[in-house]
Amino acid sequence: MGEDHVFLRACRREPTEYTPVWLMRQAGRYMEEYRDIRRKVGFLDLCKSPDLAAEVTLLPVRKLGVDAAIIFGDILLPLEGMGIQLEFVKDGGPMIRNPIRDRGDIERLNVIEPEEHVPFLLKAIEIVRRELEGRIPLIGFSGAPFTLASYLIEGGRSKDYLKTKGLMLGTPSLWHVLMEKLAEVTIRYLRAQVQSGAQALQLFDSWVGCLSPWDYEAHVLPYSRRVIQEVGEKAPLIHFSVGTSGFLHLIKEAGGDVISIDWRTDLGGTWERLGYDVGIQGNLDPSVLLASCQVIEGHVRKILESAENRPGHIFNLGHGVLPETPVENVIFMVETVHRFSKR
Ligand code: CP3
Repeated sequence: MGEDHVFLRACRREPTEYTPVWLMRQAGRYMEEYRDIRRKVGFLDLCKSPDLAAEVTLLPVRKLGVDAAIIFGDILLPLEGMGIQLEFVKDGGPMIRNPIRDRGDIERLNVIEPEEHVPFLLKAIEIVRRELEGRIPLIGFSGAPFTLASYLIEGGRSKDYLKTKGLMLGTPSLWHVLMEKLAEVTIRYLRAQVQSGAQALQLFDSWVGCLSPWDYEAHVLPYSRRVIQEVGEKAPLIHFSVGTSGFLHLIKEAGGDVISIDWRTDLGGTWERLGYDVGIQGNLDPSVLLASCQVIEGHVRKILESAENRPGHIFNLGHGVLPETPVENVIFMVETVHRFSKR
């Protein structure tokens, strides 16, 4: 039953009765139920409690009518097992207390054993699969090597990624050691998620849009490609990035069954350029969900029209749901996608 679900068929570019839709960060602070749970539990503790993480994963499934669930967690979870001290500071996002500085730091990084270092996530996946009873598929995810490296080096989010680029361009041999380790961690982490029940995967390369096409090609693409080649056979994979309209052909070259694009590009034209031998995910601007239903409907229709009901379109935002978003608007958006895309 699960294999026939619209979302998985769209991943395989098979025809569907309507366009499947889910949202990045569909379980998060814009939901009152999530905020209630977070008042009692810290973010990392929430991620590490399988029952609670499963409950949070299922919140948007019941409320929004989306076509896929995504396991609740964070791309930074595997870093602790690598020997990194991770914290989530209130409203400031993630912070790493011991960012890597030199060869010694990189050589000391541990390559994780998922069953040992992230058992809570694997357990949460099992619980969610049981609870979903095949109604909709469950997506597992990981950060891509570049985006993980950027956190390890910068210690948090950055405006210009100068330290990351400094290592990449200044000491390519050391960058290679780091990226090899991160690729291996990502492969193990994603494989373990599939073994535990994840039916599709999304690889988040959220900050790779800070690079030029040639630096992406030389210093990032080989590692992302290795990850995708080694896990892509196990489950369909969505390759996500932001701000990469100038080198989406390279993102495609790195791999993935579906390429996720942001709102800075026209979906129909971009898909034509990339070729119809790959699926496409996107690409509503998250801030549109702060506008009126009329505006939301207009934007949804534009995206659906440019996708021309072609098999392989998965509707999503270009990035995560903003915390300020009214839940009713998200429900309306999901309904609108289903209504206007009915074949
Ligand atoms: O999509 C989902 O609903 C699944 C859960 C999920 C979270 N983070 C929950 C979360 C997923 C898939 C992620 C991925 C993630 N985490 C990415 C890649 C996606 C992207 O946004 O580009 C990145 C870069 C991170 C790192 C991270 N985690 C940041 C930068 C932040 C702070 C910014 C923010 O939005 O708060 C987090 C914290 C985080 N991850 C929250 C949630 C719900 C908020 C934590 C809280 O409750 O206070």
